[in-house]
Amino acid sequence: MTDSEPGGCCRCCCSFIFTLGLTSLFMWLSLRVDNPKCSVQYFYLPALNKTLGLNTSTNSTLDFQLSLDNGNKDKGIYYDAVNVTFHDNPNRSLSHLMGDYTILGFYQGHQKKAKKGGSVELNRTLLSRAVFPNGSAVFRVDMATRVRFKILFWKTKKYSLVREASVEVNDQGIKVNKKGIRLNSSAPQPGYYRALVGVFLSSLVLISLNFGIF
Ligand SMILES: *[C@@H]1O[C@H](CO)[C@@H](O)[C@H](O)[C@H]1NC(C)=O
Ligand SMILES: *[C@@H]1O[C@H](CO)[C@@H](O)[C@H](O)[C@H]1NC(C)=O
Ligand SMILES: *[C@@H]1O[C@H](CO)[C@@H](O)[C@H](O)[C@H]1NC(C)=O
Ligand SMILES: *[C@@H]1O[C@H](CO)[C@@H](O)[C@H](O)[C@H]1NC(C)=O
Ligand SMILES: *[C@@H]1O[C@H](CO)[C@@H](O)[C@H](O)[C@H]1NC(C)=O
Repeated sequence: MTDSEPGGCCRCCCSFIFTLGLTSLFMWLSLRVDNPKCSVQYFYLPALNKTLGLNTSTNSTLDFQLSLDNGNKDKGIYYDAVNVTFHDNPNRSLSHLMGDYTILGFYQGHQKKAKKGGSVELNRTLLSRAVFPNGSAVFRVDMATRVRFKILFWKTKKYSLVREASVEVNDQGIKVNKKGIRLNSSAPQPGYYRALVGVFLSSLVLISLNFGIF
Protein backbone atom coordinates (compact mmCIF):
# COMPACT_ATOMS: atom_id res chain seq x y z
CA MET A 1 0.00 0.00 0.00
CA THR A 2 2.68 2.48 1.03
CA ASP A 3 4.83 1.23 -1.88
CA SER A 4 2.25 1.64 -4.65
CA GLU A 5 1.24 5.21 -3.81
CA PRO A 6 4.49 7.02 -4.75
CA GLY A 7 4.60 4.88 -7.92
CA GLY A 8 1.12 5.99 -8.95
CA CYS A 9 1.98 9.56 -8.26
CA CYS A 10 5.10 9.26 -10.44
CA ARG A 11 3.13 7.68 -13.32
CA CYS A 12 0.58 10.46 -13.04
CA CYS A 13 3.33 13.06 -13.08
CA CYS A 14 5.02 11.42 -16.09
CA SER A 15 1.85 11.27 -18.12
CA PHE A 16 1.23 14.91 -17.24
CA ILE A 17 4.68 15.92 -18.54
CA PHE A 18 4.17 13.72 -21.60
CA THR A 19 0.80 15.29 -22.41
CA LEU A 20 2.22 18.75 -21.86
CA GLY A 21 5.15 18.03 -24.18
CA LEU A 22 2.94 16.54 -26.86
CA THR A 23 0.49 19.45 -26.66
CA SER A 24 3.35 21.93 -26.94
CA LEU A 25 4.68 20.12 -30.01
CA PHE A 26 1.29 20.16 -31.75
CA MET A 27 0.73 23.81 -30.77
CA TRP A 28 4.12 24.67 -32.22
CA LEU A 29 3.46 22.69 -35.41
CA SER A 30 0.12 24.38 -36.03
CA LEU A 31 1.18 27.93 -35.10
CA ARG A 32 4.49 27.85 -36.96
CA VAL A 33 4.47 30.12 -40.00
CA ASP A 34 6.84 30.38 -42.91
CA ASN A 35 7.49 33.73 -44.57
CA PRO A 36 6.51 33.94 -48.22
CA LYS A 37 9.30 33.26 -50.73
CA CYS A 38 9.94 36.23 -52.97
CA SER A 39 11.76 36.42 -56.27
CA VAL A 40 12.27 38.62 -59.32
CA GLN A 41 10.67 36.77 -62.26
CA TYR A 42 10.89 39.36 -65.01
CA PHE A 43 13.06 42.45 -65.43
CA TYR A 44 13.27 44.21 -68.79
CA LEU A 45 14.42 47.65 -69.91
CA PRO A 46 13.69 48.24 -73.64
CA ALA A 47 16.21 51.14 -73.69
CA LEU A 48 19.02 48.70 -72.87
CA ASN A 49 18.03 46.34 -75.70
CA LYS A 50 20.67 47.30 -78.24
CA THR A 51 18.73 45.81 -81.18
CA LEU A 52 15.91 48.32 -80.52
CA GLY A 53 18.38 51.22 -80.70
CA LEU A 54 16.57 53.25 -78.02
CA ASN A 55 18.29 55.85 -75.89
CA THR A 56 18.32 55.97 -72.09
CA SER A 57 17.84 59.73 -72.31
CA THR A 58 14.45 59.29 -74.02
CA ASN A 59 13.29 55.94 -72.66
CA SER A 60 13.81 54.70 -69.13
CA THR A 61 10.95 52.23 -68.71
CA LEU A 62 11.47 49.19 -66.55
CA ASP A 63 8.97 46.33 -66.78
CA PHE A 64 9.24 43.95 -63.87
CA GLN A 65 7.38 41.17 -62.14
CA LEU A 66 7.87 39.70 -58.70
CA SER A 67 6.62 36.37 -57.47
CA LEU A 68 5.37 36.07 -53.88
CA ASP A 69 4.78 32.46 -52.84
CA ASN A 70 2.90 31.41 -49.74
CA GLY A 71 4.27 27.94 -49.01
CA ASN A 72 2.25 27.49 -45.80
CA LYS A 73 -0.04 24.45 -45.95
CA ASP A 74 -3.00 26.00 -44.15
CA LYS A 75 -2.25 29.66 -43.43
CA GLY A 76 -3.28 32.66 -45.50
CA ILE A 77 -1.24 35.86 -45.72
CA TYR A 78 -2.47 39.46 -45.62
CA TYR A 79 0.07 41.73 -47.32
CA ASP A 80 0.21 45.46 -46.59
CA ALA A 81 1.17 47.62 -49.56
CA VAL A 82 4.51 46.31 -50.88
CA ASN A 83 7.10 49.03 -51.46
CA VAL A 84 9.49 48.14 -54.25
CA THR A 85 12.48 50.39 -54.86
CA PHE A 86 15.23 50.37 -57.49
CA HIS A 87 18.73 51.69 -56.93
CA ASP A 88 21.75 51.88 -59.22
CA ASN A 89 24.06 50.59 -56.49
CA PRO A 90 24.02 48.93 -53.06
CA ASN A 91 24.18 52.37 -51.47
CA ARG A 92 20.52 53.05 -50.83
CA SER A 93 20.87 56.78 -50.29
CA LEU A 94 18.35 59.08 -51.95
CA SER A 95 20.88 60.15 -54.57
CA HIS A 96 20.95 56.54 -55.84
CA LEU A 97 17.18 56.01 -55.92
CA MET A 98 16.16 55.34 -59.53
CA GLY A 99 12.46 54.69 -59.01
CA ASP A 100 9.83 53.04 -56.88
CA TYR A 101 6.61 51.10 -57.28
CA THR A 102 3.83 50.18 -54.88
CA ILE A 103 2.00 46.88 -55.08
CA LEU A 104 -1.39 47.32 -53.42
CA GLY A 105 -2.04 45.23 -50.34
CA PHE A 106 -3.76 41.91 -50.96
CA TYR A 107 -4.75 38.60 -49.41
CA GLN A 108 -3.16 35.34 -50.47
CA GLY A 109 -4.58 31.92 -49.69
CA HIS A 110 -2.43 29.00 -48.56
CA GLN A 111 -0.01 27.53 -51.10
CA LYS A 112 -0.81 30.24 -53.62
CA LYS A 113 1.66 32.12 -55.82
CA ALA A 114 1.09 35.77 -56.72
CA LYS A 115 2.75 37.45 -59.68
CA LYS A 116 2.87 41.21 -59.12
CA GLY A 117 4.60 43.98 -60.98
CA GLY A 118 4.27 46.71 -63.53
CA SER A 119 6.12 49.53 -65.31
CA VAL A 120 8.30 52.18 -63.68
CA GLU A 121 9.96 55.22 -65.23
CA LEU A 122 13.50 55.20 -63.83
CA ASN A 123 15.61 58.29 -63.26
CA ARG A 124 17.23 58.87 -66.70
CA THR A 125 20.41 60.47 -65.40
CA LEU A 126 21.09 57.55 -63.09
CA LEU A 127 20.09 54.99 -65.72
CA SER A 128 22.49 56.29 -68.35
CA ARG A 129 25.24 56.31 -65.70
CA ALA A 130 24.44 52.75 -64.64
CA VAL A 131 25.04 51.20 -68.07
CA PHE A 132 28.55 49.75 -68.52
CA PRO A 133 30.38 50.30 -71.84
CA ASN A 134 29.57 46.68 -72.81
CA GLY A 135 25.84 47.42 -72.50
CA SER A 136 25.12 45.50 -69.29
CA ALA A 137 24.04 46.98 -65.96
CA VAL A 138 23.42 45.92 -62.35
CA PHE A 139 20.40 47.05 -60.34
CA ARG A 140 19.53 46.73 -56.73
CA VAL A 141 15.91 45.73 -55.99
CA ASP A 142 14.45 46.14 -52.51
CA MET A 143 10.99 45.25 -51.29
CA ALA A 144 9.46 46.13 -47.93
CA THR A 145 6.04 45.30 -46.55
CA ARG A 146 4.29 43.97 -43.48
CA VAL A 147 2.43 40.69 -43.41
CA ARG A 148 0.03 39.04 -41.01
CA PHE A 149 -0.86 35.38 -41.14
CA LYS A 150 -4.37 33.97 -40.98
CA ILE A 151 -4.47 30.84 -38.83
CA LEU A 152 -7.95 29.29 -38.78
CA PHE A 153 -10.15 32.14 -37.50
CA TRP A 154 -7.60 34.56 -36.15
CA LYS A 155 -4.88 36.80 -37.52
CA THR A 156 -1.35 37.10 -36.14
CA LYS A 157 0.34 40.43 -35.45
CA LYS A 158 2.12 42.14 -38.32
CA TYR A 159 5.63 41.01 -39.18
CA SER A 160 7.85 43.13 -41.34
CA LEU A 161 9.12 41.51 -44.51
CA VAL A 162 12.19 43.17 -46.02
CA ARG A 163 13.97 41.59 -48.98
CA GLU A 164 16.69 42.55 -51.44
CA ALA A 165 18.37 41.28 -54.57
CA SER A 166 20.93 42.31 -57.11
CA VAL A 167 19.75 42.01 -60.71
CA GLU A 168 22.16 41.96 -63.63
CA VAL A 169 20.83 42.95 -67.03
CA ASN A 170 22.57 42.12 -70.33
CA ASP A 171 22.86 44.18 -73.52
CA GLN A 172 19.41 42.91 -74.53
CA GLY A 173 17.95 44.78 -71.56
CA ILE A 174 16.75 41.57 -69.91
CA LYS A 175 17.94 40.04 -66.64
CA VAL A 176 20.84 37.64 -67.15
CA ASN A 177 19.49 34.81 -64.97
CA LYS A 178 16.80 32.90 -66.83
CA LYS A 179 15.42 31.60 -63.55
CA GLY A 180 13.81 33.79 -60.90
CA ILE A 181 16.22 35.72 -58.69
CA ARG A 182 15.56 35.05 -55.03
CA LEU A 183 14.95 38.16 -52.91
CA ASN A 184 16.84 37.54 -49.67
CA SER A 185 16.76 39.01 -46.23
CA SER A 186 19.87 40.81 -45.00
CA ALA A 187 18.88 40.35 -41.33
CA PRO A 188 18.59 37.02 -39.46
CA GLN A 189 15.07 35.65 -39.67
CA PRO A 190 12.70 35.11 -36.75
CA GLY A 191 12.13 31.70 -38.35
CA TYR A 192 15.54 30.72 -37.03
CA TYR A 193 14.49 31.38 -33.44
CA ARG A 194 11.19 29.59 -34.01
CA ALA A 195 13.20 26.57 -35.21
CA LEU A 196 15.21 26.66 -31.97
CA VAL A 197 12.01 26.72 -29.91
CA GLY A 198 10.78 23.76 -31.99
CA VAL A 199 13.92 21.77 -31.27
CA PHE A 200 13.54 22.56 -27.59
CA LEU A 201 9.89 21.43 -27.50
CA SER A 202 10.67 18.26 -29.45
CA SER A 203 13.40 17.42 -26.92
CA LEU A 204 10.86 17.94 -24.16
CA VAL A 205 8.55 15.40 -25.81
CA LEU A 206 11.42 12.92 -26.23
CA ILE A 207 12.36 13.33 -22.58
CA SER A 208 8.77 12.78 -21.45
CA LEU A 209 8.58 9.71 -23.73
CA ASN A 210 11.66 8.35 -21.96
CA PHE A 211 9.99 8.92 -18.62
CA GLY A 212 6.91 7.09 -19.90
CA ILE A 213 8.99 4.07 -20.92
CA PHE A 214 10.78 3.78 -17.56
C1 LIG B 1 26.21 56.58 -50.20
O1 LIG B 1 26.21 57.66 -51.13
C2 LIG B 1 26.23 58.95 -50.53
C3 LIG B 1 26.11 59.99 -51.64
O2 LIG B 1 26.66 59.55 -52.85
C4 LIG B 1 27.53 59.11 -49.71
O3 LIG B 1 27.52 60.37 -49.07
C5 LIG B 1 27.59 58.00 -48.65
O4 LIG B 1 28.80 58.07 -47.96
C6 LIG B 1 27.45 56.62 -49.31
N1 LIG B 1 27.35 55.62 -48.27
C7 LIG B 1 28.03 54.48 -48.32
C8 LIG B 1 27.80 53.51 -47.20
O5 LIG B 1 28.78 54.20 -49.25
C1 LIG C 1 17.77 61.82 -60.88
O1 LIG C 1 18.88 61.57 -60.04
C2 LIG C 1 19.77 62.67 -59.93
C3 LIG C 1 20.98 62.18 -59.13
O2 LIG C 1 20.60 61.64 -57.91
C4 LIG C 1 19.06 63.84 -59.28
O3 LIG C 1 19.93 64.94 -59.17
C5 LIG C 1 17.83 64.21 -60.12
O4 LIG C 1 17.07 65.22 -59.46
C6 LIG C 1 16.95 62.99 -60.34
N1 LIG C 1 15.89 63.33 -61.31
C7 LIG C 1 14.60 63.14 -61.04
C8 LIG C 1 13.65 63.50 -62.12
O5 LIG C 1 14.21 62.68 -59.97
C1 LIG D 1 30.31 44.14 -68.69
O1 LIG D 1 31.14 44.99 -67.91
C2 LIG D 1 30.96 44.88 -66.49
C3 LIG D 1 31.85 45.94 -65.80
O2 LIG D 1 33.07 46.06 -66.43
C4 LIG D 1 31.30 43.46 -66.05
O3 LIG D 1 31.08 43.33 -64.65
C5 LIG D 1 30.38 42.47 -66.79
O4 LIG D 1 30.73 41.14 -66.45
C6 LIG D 1 30.52 42.67 -68.29
N1 LIG D 1 29.53 41.82 -68.95
C7 LIG D 1 29.81 41.08 -70.01
C8 LIG D 1 28.68 40.26 -70.56
O5 LIG D 1 30.92 41.06 -70.49
C1 LIG E 1 5.84 51.94 -47.74
O1 LIG E 1 5.83 53.29 -48.18
C2 LIG E 1 4.85 54.09 -47.51
C3 LIG E 1 4.89 55.45 -48.16
O2 LIG E 1 6.18 55.89 -48.37
C4 LIG E 1 5.16 54.12 -46.01
O3 LIG E 1 4.17 54.87 -45.34
C5 LIG E 1 5.18 52.70 -45.47
O4 LIG E 1 5.56 52.69 -44.11
C6 LIG E 1 6.16 51.86 -46.25
N1 LIG E 1 6.06 50.47 -45.79
C7 LIG E 1 7.13 49.76 -45.41
C8 LIG E 1 6.87 48.39 -44.93
O5 LIG E 1 8.26 50.22 -45.45
C1 LIG F 1 15.12 43.18 -78.18
O1 LIG F 1 14.53 43.76 -79.31
C2 LIG F 1 14.38 42.85 -80.41
C3 LIG F 1 13.86 43.63 -81.61
O2 LIG F 1 12.61 44.18 -81.36
C4 LIG F 1 13.41 41.76 -80.00
O3 LIG F 1 13.27 40.82 -81.05
C5 LIG F 1 13.96 41.05 -78.75
O4 LIG F 1 13.01 40.10 -78.29
C6 LIG F 1 14.23 42.07 -77.67
N1 LIG F 1 14.88 41.39 -76.55
C7 LIG F 1 14.24 41.07 -75.44
C8 LIG F 1 15.08 40.44 -74.38
O5 LIG F 1 13.05 41.30 -75.26
